[in-house]
Amino acid sequence: MLLLGLLAGLLGVCGAQVAEVFVFHSNNYNEAAGDYKLWDWSKVTTVAVWKDRLLEEPDIVPFARARGAKVVLGGFGMNAEHFSNASARAAYVGAVVNLTSAFRLDGFNVDIEGNAPEHRDAVTALTCDLKAALGPASMLTFDLGAAPKSEIDRYDFAGLGVCLDYIVPMIYDMVGGWPELSPGPNSPLGAVRTCVEEYSELGIPPSRLILGFPWYGYDFPCAAGTPAGSGGACVMAQPPPPFLQLEAGYGTVLDTWERRGASVAGAGVSWDNTSSTPWFEYAATDGSIHQCWYDDPRSLALKYAAAAEHSARGVAFWTGDSFHRANGTKSAGAARDMWAVVPTPARP
Ligand SMILES: *[C@@H]1O[C@H](CO)[C@@H](O)[C@H](O)[C@H]1NC(C)=O
Ligand SMILES: *[C@@H]1O[C@H](CO)[C@@H](O)[C@H](O)[C@H]1NC(C)=O
Ligand SMILES: *[C@@H]1O[C@H](CO)[C@@H](O)[C@H](O)[C@H]1NC(C)=O
Ligand SMILES: *[C@@H]1O[C@H](CO)[C@@H](O)[C@H](O)[C@H]1NC(C)=O
Repeated sequence: MLLLGLLAGLLGVCGAQVAEVFVFHSNNYNEAAGDYKLWDWSKVTTVAVWKDRLLEEPDIVPFARARGAKVVLGGFGMNAEHFSNASARAAYVGAVVNLTSAFRLDGFNVDIEGNAPEHRDAVTALTCDLKAALGPASMLTFDLGAAPKSEIDRYDFAGLGVCLDYIVPMIYDMVGGWPELSPGPNSPLGAVRTCVEEYSELGIPPSRLILGFPWYGYDFPCAAGTPAGSGGACVMAQPPPPFLQLEAGYGTVLDTWERRGASVAGAGVSWDNTSSTPWFEYAATDGSIHQCWYDDPRSLALKYAAAAEHSARGVAFWTGDSFHRANGTKSAGAARDMWAVVPTPARP
């Protein structure tokens, strides 16, 4: 905790501040209803609520508003087959406008990942139609990749930049080479700098970027027969399980460490110097060796500081709800530790 205090202090002392703290709120980590009340709302400027969550938990809207945070709709997708159909796009834009006005929301967060090159221009048109329909006072953001130069055939970044308020680069899921997967860091620290540089080269300055970081990690099973202590020699059985099944919210990671951390003699939480992220090894109940790579308050504090240093507009995290644990006392403690290092946004 002393270290966290020092890091948080340094962020303040150095003066580099972010203006935006943008929190994703989805159904991904089976959080208990109302867990959002554990967040440090003094630091939240915007929450992007996934549609299912909004329908289940509409009270988050007045709750966030009363604390000075904007609420935008997220996770309301359109069937990719219809991107190039102008009337289907118009119907989707109409549905987004209806939902945001029914819930009196402040904007929309677009999440179209892995777009096909043939829909590149249609996705730009859709984005610009959304902005025109939602109006200038709304906040329109788009979750895009951390390495945009590798995706210029899929997204017209400059064209999107014209109609978006902000881009939210997802600095996660960067572990190498799906599906030929070996364990590794989800969100290496060095990706912050390369992400900002690549967007700048494509005409999007850091003042238009809200950098997204993970409040989750990956629990990788090593191939059968991998001995404990194999480190970088651990590779996954092929084909690996679908990667979403390997994803583990921060609370689940802590639970895994607590339950299985002692299953490997002499094991501890290691720190990967190259990526500045923690990881540990454990033996599952079936005897198989796993490596868990994740982010914790220490690795996240470094990334938040790097975001501020590179003059990003803000930071985002997927998701604010990564704590669900059977024991509510621990859930609250984990949330407090994660929020303690989140930068306090400079408010206008
Ligand atoms: C385009 O979308 C409209 C509205 O959803 C639909 O009625 C029409 O069949 C679609 N056209 C094609 C070619 O898919
Ligand atoms: C939006 O709401 C209006 C008014 O309730 C309705 O007429 C329209 O059909 C809705 N549009 C969509 C796309 O849901
Ligand atoms: C990691 O970096 C720290 C500080 O720079 C250093 O003391 C340590 O030896 C490094 N560890 C490894 C395994 O490289
Ligand atoms: C919940 O966790 C706290 C903190 O780790 C611990 O003190 C308490 O005994 C736990 N309660 C239960 C019911 O496991």
